[in-house]
Amino acid sequence: MNVKLFAVGVAAAIALSGAAYAGDAANGEKLAKTRCATCHTFEQGGAKKVGPNLFGVTTRGPGKAEGFNYSASYKAAAEKGFAWDAANLDEYITDPTAFLAKKTGDAKARSNMTFKLAKPEERADVIAYLATLK
Ligand code: HEC
Repeated sequence: MNVKLFAVGVAAAIALSGAAYAGDAANGEKLAKTRCATCHTFEQGGAKKVGPNLFGVTTRGPGKAEGFNYSASYKAAAEKGFAWDAANLDEYITDPTAFLAKKTGDAKARSNMTFKLAKPEERADVIAYLATLK
């Protein structure tokens, strides 16, 4: 077997396996601008759109964007208390409604965010970018 090719293959496998992949914030910024920016702004003091401004989302806690009216399910989940760490963000962006159902324990919970990012590497990149917004 070609040892060099094998090494490249192993490196790629490690890079793509969720646990070991830390996320590329620069690519995450590009993805955020194309996938999330219809509904979110990212700069400090940015306006709300369909969704809240996301500057500082990883440090301010859930449901804290000033002047934004979160859904009832979202408020119920935030009241129970959770942090926007990488694991929670990953679950939320995968399926916001499923995330709120799990956090509230209410199968009828509904998120007002009707968007899902299916690819794990894209989620990791976007989450790495969100973590820089503080
Ligand atoms: C179609 C519009 C839409 C798109 C696209 C969208 N979102 Fe959202 N997002 C929302 C809405 C609406 C909420 C508020 C949810 C609620 O009240 O239930 C929200 C809430 C959030 C929150 C929680 C914010 C807080 O203040 O606690 C995060 C984090 C988030 N979105 C991340 C993302 C990311 C990352 C993307 C792109 C991958 C994205 N969203 C794409 C509409 C959207």
